[in-house]
Amino acid sequence: MNQSFEDKKYAPVGVFDSGVGGLTVAREIMRQLPMEHIIYFGDTARVPYGSKSKETIIRYSRQIIRFLETMGVKAIVVACNTASAFALEEIRPEVKMPVIGVVKPGAKVAAESTGNGRIGVIGTEGTVGSQIYTEMIHRHNPDAVVLGKACPLFVPLVEEGWLKDSVTIEVAKRYLASFQESDIDTLILGCTHYPLLRSTIRDIMGEGVNLVNPAYETAQGLKRLLWQHHLANDGKGQAPAVRYQFYVSDAAEKFRSFASSILPCEIKEAQLIHIEE
Ligand code: DGL
Repeated sequence: MNQSFEDKKYAPVGVFDSGVGGLTVAREIMRQLPMEHIIYFGDTARVPYGSKSKETIIRYSRQIIRFLETMGVKAIVVACNTASAFALEEIRPEVKMPVIGVVKPGAKVAAESTGNGRIGVIGTEGTVGSQIYTEMIHRHNPDAVVLGKACPLFVPLVEEGWLKDSVTIEVAKRYLASFQESDIDTLILGCTHYPLLRSTIRDIMGEGVNLVNPAYETAQGLKRLLWQHHLANDGKGQAPAVRYQFYVSDAAEKFRSFASSILPCEIKEAQLIHIEE
C-alpha cells in the first residue's frame, strides 16, 4: 500500500469513524476544503463504538491510524466522538502527523454561542459517560450547566438508513424528553451519526434550541492545522485519479450506496479491508 507523494501537501487527509457517521464530517471537509483529497475508513464490521470500553476503542483507533498511515495520509481527522473521547489523547503522541478530533471544536462553539449557559449534549454511552464535553465546555465557559443524554439506539437506526422513519421519531421523542423541562438553549449533536437525524431532532426540540454540529468547526480546525503545518493543498499538484477513496471493514456495497446518498458526489466504490491484519 505505502503510497509516497512527491510533496506531502498533495497527500490525502485520513478520516475515520465506526461507520457512516463520519461522512457528515467528510462532507463538511469536501465543502470547506475542496482541494483536499480524502481517504475515509468506516469500521462497519465493529460498529457501534459507543457501547465499547475505552481499551477497545483505543485498540481499534490504533489499527485504523496504522492503516491510514500506510495509505500515505498527511493528517488524520478522528470523525467519531467516542474515539475522540477515549483514544485521541492516548494516541496523539504516537502519530507523526497532525491529528484532530471532533469534541474540542464542538465544545468550543457551544460554550461560546450559548445565551443562558445551559447546554445539552447527546452522544453515545461512551462519549456522555466520559464527561469530555462537560470538561471541554468548562474550559471556555466555567459556569455553563451541561446536561448529557446517551442515545444508543440512534446509531443503528442511522446505519440502517431509517433517518425519517416513524420508529426513529418515536425513539428520538423518548430520548429528548429529558430536555423538555431543562431550559437548554443549545444542544450538541455529540455523535457524528446524529446530524443525519437533524430534522427529526429539530422538530422535537423546536426552533428555540440551537443545534450544534461539530463537523463545521472541525473542518475549520483542519484548515487551520494544515496551514500551520504547510500541508494545505494548493491545487497545483497532479490530481489523483480518485479524489475521495472509501474503505470499510464490512458490507461495502451498503456503505457505498449510503455514502452516495449523503455526499455531494456519487461514490463508485468502497473497498473492503481486513483491519485486524
Ligand atoms: N459516530 C461515532 C461517534 O461520533 C460512533 C457511534 C458508534 O459507533 O456508537 O461517537
